[in-house]
Amino acid sequence: MNLEDDTSQSPEGRLWRSVTTKWFGVIFGTALAYAILRYHIAGDVSWTQFPLFILNKAMSLAAVAFVACSYLVGRVIRWHNEDPQTKLVVIKFCGLMGLSLAAIHALCSMCLLTPAYYAKFYGPDGRLNFTGGLGLAVGVVALWALVVPAITTLPTMPKALGGIRWKRTQRVGYLCLGLVIAHMVAFGLKGWMTPEKWHWGLPPITLWGALAAAVPIAAKSWQLCRRQK
Ligand code: HEM
Repeated sequence: MNLEDDTSQSPEGRLWRSVTTKWFGVIFGTALAYAILRYHIAGDVSWTQFPLFILNKAMSLAAVAFVACSYLVGRVIRWHNEDPQTKLVVIKFCGLMGLSLAAIHALCSMCLLTPAYYAKFYGPDGRLNFTGGLGLAVGVVALWALVVPAITTLPTMPKALGGIRWKRTQRVGYLCLGLVIAHMVAFGLKGWMTPEKWHWGLPPITLWGALAAAVPIAAKSWQLCRRQK
């Protein structure tokens, strides 16, 4: 989660407030509505699959969106509220919510990980094939790369690490976003190439996830390029 441009002080106070509840409603609500629309309404996935399979898709998409927002608020997403402390709370909330949803997504995926759900990840001998193994390994490292900046949001960490090291650990989140793109490419690339098969022309969640992860990386690269000029 990106608090690096503002201060190395973690924001004080509660994370659940009316402003963060609205952020949760918009991001999670959109991801859930999209998953329901694409897979149940436009697609032919039975509603019996909603509690774990479809909810897992919504949670994973919301996880990427929250992590991306934690790096975009105040930068690409302009902050009009006068109170900079609230901005820090929203940034921290997005980062920690992204981590929690990604962790739940990882657990749900473990429960679902069978050839019946993900036949494309398995070889004829019933073991993971290269794509399945690679996509999962990248997902595991991406989760680790989210935990690192999350731990450093503990109030004692800025002092314990010192400003420069603390800021560096916050940037590990960009590594997570890069790995999420690889996670999406490994699992989704084939589907991206066949838009004629998309239900109602709606792109797969893997494509939205990759785009959401790419925006903060592009914004950061653009910022670095401008600084170097
Ligand atoms: C231990 C870590 C992880 C495991 C085991 C895991 C597992 C999976 C699995 C099995 C899928 C389904 C692929 C498919 O339907 O084709 C998936 C998709 C996805 N994952 Fe992960 N993942 C992990 C970490 C993450 C992290 C850290 C993020 C983001 C912050 C993430 C975001 C996504 C997204 C957006 C999708 C696409 C959803 C879909 O189309 O079903 N994953 N992951």
